Amino acid sequence: MTRVLVLNGPNLGTLGHRQPEIYGSKTLDEINEWLGRVADSWGWELSPFQSNHEGGLVDFLEQHGPVCNGVLINPGALTHYGLSLRDALAALTVPVVEVHLSNIHAREEFRRRSVTAEVARGVVTGFGWQSYLLGLEALRGLIGGS
Ligand code: DQA
Repeated sequence: MTRVLVLNGPNLGTLGHRQPEIYGSKTLDEINEWLGRVADSWGWELSPFQSNHEGGLVDFLEQHGPVCNGVLINPGALTHYGLSLRDALAALTVPVVEVHLSNIHAREEFRRRSVTAEVARGVVTGFGWQSYLLGLEALRGLIGGS
């Protein structure tokens, strides 16, 4: 069975309440439920994981990266400076798709650089929670099958 890791970095556990004018009103659980429904219809298994700690994400990737088919990730602020997360993603042999709720290129200067995007296959940014759905579709194209 195709297994995809759905990773979320710092502060994404408070989605729904956190600056809804920027990040929308859906909670992370609601987003994961949507993704799960789509994945079910493809016969895929999703493994969601959120951490406020870079090391937690690195540990999860070390453990599950070698036994998955792809990674969908919103690294949160680690996008801009998380070099150990970047190294963990670079070590994977499966495709990585990065997603952002907001358009990181239309915000503060410091958000324009993504150190993690440099090791991802592509980035979906600026479509709210639907960035995750579009990112999952992108992974389907990259992984193939159903
Ligand atoms: C974010 C963008 C980041 O700059 C920010 O630190 C986040 C969320 C997004 O999804 O738009 O936490 O990754």
